[in-house]
Amino acid sequence: MKIGVDYYPEQWDSSMWSQDAELMAKTGVKTVRIGEFAWSRLEPSDGSFDFSWLDDVIGIFSHFGLEVVLGIPTNCPPLWLYEAHPEIIRVGSDEIPIQTGIRAHRCINSPVFMTYAKRITEQLVRRYGSNPTVTAWQIDNELEAYPCCCDECRRKFREWLIDKHDTLENINRAFGTSVWSGEYTSLSQIAPPTAYPKSWQNPALCLEFYRFTSECTAAYVKELSMVIRRECPKAQLTTNACFSENTPDFYKLFNEVDFVSYDNYPPTRLSTDPEAHYSHAFELDLMRGIKGRNFRIMEQLSGSTGGWAAMSPTPKPGMIIGYGLQALAHGADTVVHFRWRTAVTGAEMFCHGLIDHSGIPGRRFYEFAELCKTASKLSVIDTTEIISEAAIIYSPDNNYALEIQPQADGFSYMEQLRMFHKAFARYGANVDIVSPDADLSGYKAVIAPEMFVYKKSSAENLYRYVINGGTLVMTNRSGVKDQNNNCFTDTLPTVYRELIGAEITEYDPIGAAEQTIVDFAGNKFVCRQWCDVLRLTTAKAYAEYNDGFYRCCPAVTMNRYCSGVAYYVGTVCKSDFYESFVGNIMRQTGIPRLKGLPAGVEVTTRTNGLDDFIFFFNNSETPASIRLPKAMYSIIDSIGRDNIELKPFGFDIVRK
Ligand code: GLA
Ligand code: ZN
Repeated sequence: MKIGVDYYPEQWDSSMWSQDAELMAKTGVKTVRIGEFAWSRLEPSDGSFDFSWLDDVIGIFSHFGLEVVLGIPTNCPPLWLYEAHPEIIRVGSDEIPIQTGIRAHRCINSPVFMTYAKRITEQLVRRYGSNPTVTAWQIDNELEAYPCCCDECRRKFREWLIDKHDTLENINRAFGTSVWSGEYTSLSQIAPPTAYPKSWQNPALCLEFYRFTSECTAAYVKELSMVIRRECPKAQLTTNACFSENTPDFYKLFNEVDFVSYDNYPPTRLSTDPEAHYSHAFELDLMRGIKGRNFRIMEQLSGSTGGWAAMSPTPKPGMIIGYGLQALAHGADTVVHFRWRTAVTGAEMFCHGLIDHSGIPGRRFYEFAELCKTASKLSVIDTTEIISEAAIIYSPDNNYALEIQPQADGFSYMEQLRMFHKAFARYGANVDIVSPDADLSGYKAVIAPEMFVYKKSSAENLYRYVINGGTLVMTNRSGVKDQNNNCFTDTLPTVYRELIGAEITEYDPIGAAEQTIVDFAGNKFVCRQWCDVLRLTTAKAYAEYNDGFYRCCPAVTMNRYCSGVAYYVGTVCKSDFYESFVGNIMRQTGIPRLKGLPAGVEVTTRTNGLDDFIFFFNNSETPASIRLPKAMYSIIDSIGRDNIELKPFGFDIVRK
């Protein structure tokens, strides 16, 4: 495991570089990411490049034995470029160009911007492509599916639509524009969905625009990747992901790069509500699932964050080590901390790094140093990976479509995924989060929540999985929409009816109201948000409603289909239901369960095929103790033990 830091040499006096690099090396840092915002320093005026300072910086890191991940600085074009070419500025949904002087204000579809972006990329790669200190390249920074409304994006969107749908008539049909006299009589009438109120916009148009913007971002990464690979075929490429209002389709975004990077900011204030989202383990598993292999953290929480919003609490003792090793436990082989020093100028001066404004290393820094020391003892983990017997399906399309049209108060796509994830985590099981088109054949159980928007290949994938003997769980709001985000004219859950052996006669979006269901064993659980009233065809009831006019109607069903089993959960419950339900599924499918894990303790296993390493992380503020079935060796302190004692945010790794 490698530990790194994000560093901004352009923000510090050059006299500090050596001193910083020396301390990094002494602390045990192995990797430094630099440069992703430094365009104005690298190209101070059009076509004149200044690499002298970057030569010095890279030389210094090389001298101290640190490797560099070099950022392609296209997130922040210099102001001279905006001044000369104002048409490259991104336009907001208010149709007003974004003010320069912040960041990410370029339109990635602008041909002029692309010419400049490719040129600076090419220059950087020519200069450093064969430099052994530069071991990887990060394209841009935290890319989003930018809903830019500039003239170029409008033109491109229309072109994209006509390319996909062939004729204007087809677009009208696909969008169902007969509603509200929305029929297009010319292509020029098609515009990004910027109308107010947002909820009055055509959902078909909204989803197509999201797909378009997401594809544009992926195409942008591809174009810059090609420039880099042309100059340096062996270059290792990445870009760093985050969740945002415009989260792109990660499966497409990372297609052309070598590895996934994620910016990981777990919460420093833990919720006291037991139903609240529990852990960043979910996000980490999602990142690993993008390429189905280990990934890196390119930014990791190091201190109180703030600036855009009020500052968050500072990480509690244990969090810097604990969250760092938690990332490793879920497949992050390199964890780069954001950032070495806290900025003293600019909008992010209160996004704290490891070293505070005073420049004097303090508590968080020393904990980070401890993490570096621990990481240096974990080389045995380097060749291990995570093999899971359970998977949860994450679909960017379904997520976005459900954001366009919220289904009930409190109803959230991501929350349903997390609830299932949390249930598997309660039993210490590894879980993959994968795309709807992923190969599912290796999993004993697959959860496919809210398969809202139909996609032929994904539906076939689910059928195939069950036909071949898999155990599948589907949930409410599946099979509702066609590819155009319009409603199917068939009994719900339409294409999945045969698979689940039941149909929905009616539904009740109860929102925040709470009702109850009773399972086959007489256990009662609270349900909320949504109630599908089911009628069985070939399925059996797993649980029934206990209230109202659909009392005694099935709420959860189980259907044997070919060699497999398909469950359907028609409502949304609280964690106790998912724990019980997932527990039963694990028992039936033979996925081992660790019982009685203290709340907040996360257990994952990494393997190299010969040895298994079990990671224990206490993601809570209460000390925890776990009895092992037999004595095992901790690879952290090389001492055998049959009991794991964990402090708040404490960690242990044992060889099985
Ligand atoms: C993101 C960005 C960084 C910085 C941090 C602050 O992850 O990539 O440049 O803004 O947030 O927390
Ligand atoms: Zn644009």
